[in-house]
Formats: sequence, C-alpha cells, structure tokens
Amino acid sequence: MELLKNRIRTDGLVLNDSLLKVDSFLNHQLDPQLMFKMGEEFARRFSGEAITRILTIEASGIAVAIMAGLVMQVPVVFARKKKSAVTTDDLYCTKVYSFTKKESNDIIVDKKFLAANDRVLIIDDFLANGEAALGLANIVQQAGAAVVGIGIVIEKSFQPGAGKLKAAGFRVESLARIAAFSGGQVQFVPEA
Ligand code: G4P
Ligand code: NA
Ligand code: NA
Repeated sequence: MELLKNRIRTDGLVLNDSLLKVDSFLNHQLDPQLMFKMGEEFARRFSGEAITRILTIEASGIAVAIMAGLVMQVPVVFARKKKSAVTTDDLYCTKVYSFTKKESNDIIVDKKFLAANDRVLIIDDFLANGEAALGLANIVQQAGAAVVGIGIVIEKSFQPGAGKLKAAGFRVESLARIAAFSGGQVQFVPEA
C-alpha cells in the first residue's frame, strides 16, 4: 500500500537493524485517516470471503482492526494479555512468547465472542516472529471457527513470521513488507 509505505519513509524511525519506530501514526499517536484507509484496504483484499468477525490483540492491533471492522461491518474482538491467566471454562487461552520482549504472556478471549460458525480475519500491527498471529489462530481453532486470513500492517519479511504463517497454510496480506533496514533506511520488498 503506497500511502503507508510513504508514511513509513517519512515518519518511520529505524532504531537498529531489526526495529522500526512508528509511534507518530501507529503505536502511540494514531492517524485516523490513514487507519481508515488501511481498514478499506483490508476490506478490499478480503472481499468475497464472507468474514463475520475480526480478531486482534491489545494494544496496537486494535486501532486498525476497528477500522477494518467499520468498513466490513463486522464486530472486532481483541485478545487480552495477562502475565498468567486463571483459566476457566468460559475462556479460550493460549501462551504467546515474544522474542522481541523476551517474555511470555497468556492471551485470552471470552468464549462468547467467537463461535464455531465464524469466519475470522486476524489483524495485527506488526509481523515479526509470528507468535502473536499463531496464538490468535490457535484461539480461533479452539473455537472451531475458520481463519480466513491474517492481515498485517507492517511485515518484517526478513524475520521468520510470514514464512511460518504461510507454511501453516494461512493467507497473509501485509500492507507494507520490509526486506531490510540498511543504513538507517527502510528497504521494501518489491511488489509484483
Ligand atoms: P511476533 O508476534 O510477530 O512474534 O512479534 P514479537 O513477539 O517479536 O513482537 C513483540 C511486540 O513488539 C509486539 O507488540 C509487536 O507488535 C512489536 N514489534 C515487533 N517488531 C516491531 C518493530 O519493528 N517495531 C515496533 N514498533 N514494534 C514491533 P506488543 O508487545 O504486542 O505490544 P503492543 O504495541 O501491541 O501493545
Ligand atoms: Na501488536
Ligand atoms: Na506492537
């Protein structure tokens, strides 16, 4: 998505060879117009998929997910993170390890917000190692529902996540795909 790539070029800050700071429009301050356009782009890419619900994870996935939900007119559920969840019969729960933060969280979704007949689009802001997306997919599968696809704002294609998700059979649609950070500059994956 050219609009997003241009925004990353102008406002993204390359912190080191693997981390991009985008807190002026995605991770701290939010740009609602850009978010809405990204919601429209996800709706366009997944049109015809009869999606019934969007699933994301707190905190930074929520803003873009709600815009996609607004355009697609479906409810948006966000998984909550807990240091350690007290599991009950009412909750889906799975563990997500973050290589970036070197910590593990339990993520939970109340069973009343996912049904076996749901067709779910998973959305998140970053795709790095893929652990968050795999955790969300695991929760959808626990519900007996279908994962229609995974929509990502910024994919770091040089990290293993995208490959892992595709190898697991998921359709991944990333609005910006980054091949590398070199010399403080963002190199995007060329689009076909
Ligand atoms: P993974 O889910 O793909 O395995 O990613 P990983 O554990 O490595 O990422 C942990 C957190 O760091 C996630 O946020 C993810 O969005 C974020 N992250 C990963 N790479 C980058 C990056 O290059 N830049 C920025 N700004 N964030 C990155 P989180 O812990 O879920 O926090 P939240 O922001 O959603 O609250
Ligand atoms: Na995230
Ligand atoms: Na994040």
